[in-house]
Amino acid sequence: MPKIVAIVSQKGGSGKTTLALHLATCAAYAKQDTCVIDTDPQATAAAWGDWRGDFLPAVVTSPPARLARTIENAGKQGIGLVVIDTPPHAEAAMREAIKVADLVLIPTRPRAFDLHALEGIADLVNFTGTPAHVVLNGVPANATRMVEDAKAAAKELGLETCPVTFGDRADFHRSSARGEVASEIDDNGKAAGEVKAMWKWVKKALA
Ligand SMILES: Nc1ncnc2c1ncn2[C@@H]1O[C@H](COP(=O)(O)OP(=O)(O)OP(=O)(O)O)[C@@H](O)[C@H]1O
Ligand SMILES: [Mg+2]
Repeated sequence: MPKIVAIVSQKGGSGKTTLALHLATCAAYAKQDTCVIDTDPQATAAAWGDWRGDFLPAVVTSPPARLARTIENAGKQGIGLVVIDTPPHAEAAMREAIKVADLVLIPTRPRAFDLHALEGIADLVNFTGTPAHVVLNGVPANATRMVEDAKAAAKELGLETCPVTFGDRADFHRSSARGEVASEIDDNGKAAGEVKAMWKWVKKALA
């Protein structure tokens, strides 16, 4: 069975798809056989895969109810890492993804840090015991205090925060919009560096 990372958050625009695509692509560059499963009916990740064409990673769509079967098929094809992208405001889809995950990542904007939106996820992962981390995304420069406050708020809900954060960086937005990732725009840029650090951390967390 492949290792499975589920990217969930109830809030729209928190960075789920950005994190899923960057993480999966970084893993693919590191020679991991990786695929993204897009359970969002908006199919944003799948559209990115269409723009990207034949370059890795593969992106497949799956209704949440067929997730287990889709993962099984991916495993049969030699996929070692699955990254699941999920829709916002969709309790059932989130639940299905958490159920199969080895690691749950919860991208959250620190500025709009919304305790209420994290509560449902916190309850779920605390119940299933699945390792889960908040990933602060779109962090403005020099926002140390903001990051500390967000971490403290997550902790109150029983959630850990990933030590790697993503800054608010044009490379994330510009690359995704054309079927690429940040490192393909600027391999030495800060966004690319953050993704590499994130992959290194995820690899350890999955080991
Ligand atoms: N760290 C970042 N820096 C700059 N832009 C970002 C960053 N993260 C995400 N974005 C941009 O913000 C928008 C929303 O991000 P994304 O689509 O990843 O969120 P999402 O959680 O998947 O949204 P949805 O809930 O609608 O599926 C996109 O245009 C994306 O390019
Ligand atoms: Mg999305």
